[in-house]
Amino acid sequence: RNEISIGLLGLGTVGSGVATILQQHQEDLRHKLGVQVAIKKVLIKDTTKERLSPLDSSIFTTDIEEVINDPSLDIIVEVMGGMKGAKQAIENALRAGKQVVTANKDVMAEHGHELLKLADEKKCDLFYEASVAGGIPIIRTLEDGLASDRIAGLMGIVNGTTNFILTKMKQENMSYEEALVKATELGFAEADPSSDVDGWDAARKMVILSSLAFSTEVRLEDVLVRGMKEIQAGDLQIAEGFGYTIKMVGSSNKDEDGIEVAVEPILLPNLHPLASVNNEFNAVYIHGEAVGETMLYGPGAGSLPTATSVVSDIIAACRNLLLEVNGKRLHAAQHDLVIKEDKS
Ligand code: HSE
Repeated sequence: RNEISIGLLGLGTVGSGVATILQQHQEDLRHKLGVQVAIKKVLIKDTTKERLSPLDSSIFTTDIEEVINDPSLDIIVEVMGGMKGAKQAIENALRAGKQVVTANKDVMAEHGHELLKLADEKKCDLFYEASVAGGIPIIRTLEDGLASDRIAGLMGIVNGTTNFILTKMKQENMSYEEALVKATELGFAEADPSSDVDGWDAARKMVILSSLAFSTEVRLEDVLVRGMKEIQAGDLQIAEGFGYTIKMVGSSNKDEDGIEVAVEPILLPNLHPLASVNNEFNAVYIHGEAVGETMLYGPGAGSLPTATSVVSDIIAACRNLLLEVNGKRLHAAQHDLVIKEDKS
């Protein structure tokens, strides 16, 4: 084999970033893998749209089956977003025996367990590094980097929009509404930003991280979710007077009774490493029994940061294809942990 072929589902913000990185780093990839990696087919929605991607439009199609069922494609990369169509696409690609890479947090939070099981059955891989904290390799850190440790808990600022709003309200006296408009203009906010400000976007990401951290099946309904719309600029000033910062934090903790997962605005002492994570940046602070405390920090969204994670997943999928193995992933309900109901 001297080439690995990719089918790209979606050429929006993340998809064009993937095309750009694959093109710009083509030589490095060839050196790292010893084969050429090339996008051979792309699913697009709108044929009339002007695109900045480096790809030739002769490989564009609007027919998803044409991509998924193309026997010459080795890896299907799902970056089209949304829920139903994307889930079906991932499932069909795995059934067709493809390696799959997705950036889809919604699908992975709600159907990740079932899809990862299907991938195992089909002896394919399903990689999803970009689904949480776009530019931070947090999935790999939990799956591999800290696989040796027992995680006691983690705390994350995993929604850039709410972190941006709280930062601007505190540091620049912006109103909640102004800051939300700005976050939308900058492209961080979801199409419906209520999933950012009401905490559901962060809750989905915490479902993915908690399932990995504790090798168990955490579900969205297990997460206590409180939004940040009630927070006023005055609250942020008062907290500051006492040496605290208000942050929208996802937390996931384990004790002898089980685990509890929550997303809510909390008061963090200014000395806490998460207190200085500002603007749209994300960070995940992990407490491992052996390693102690460790924190990863970086961009949580954006075309190239998110595409970096997608392309790293493509490289992992290529390696497995070349070695003719598929990774047994740490996802299944290996532990039968109780998810605690009473979080008060
Ligand atoms: N709306 C999300 C955020 C985008 O603000 O973090 C990245 O998942």
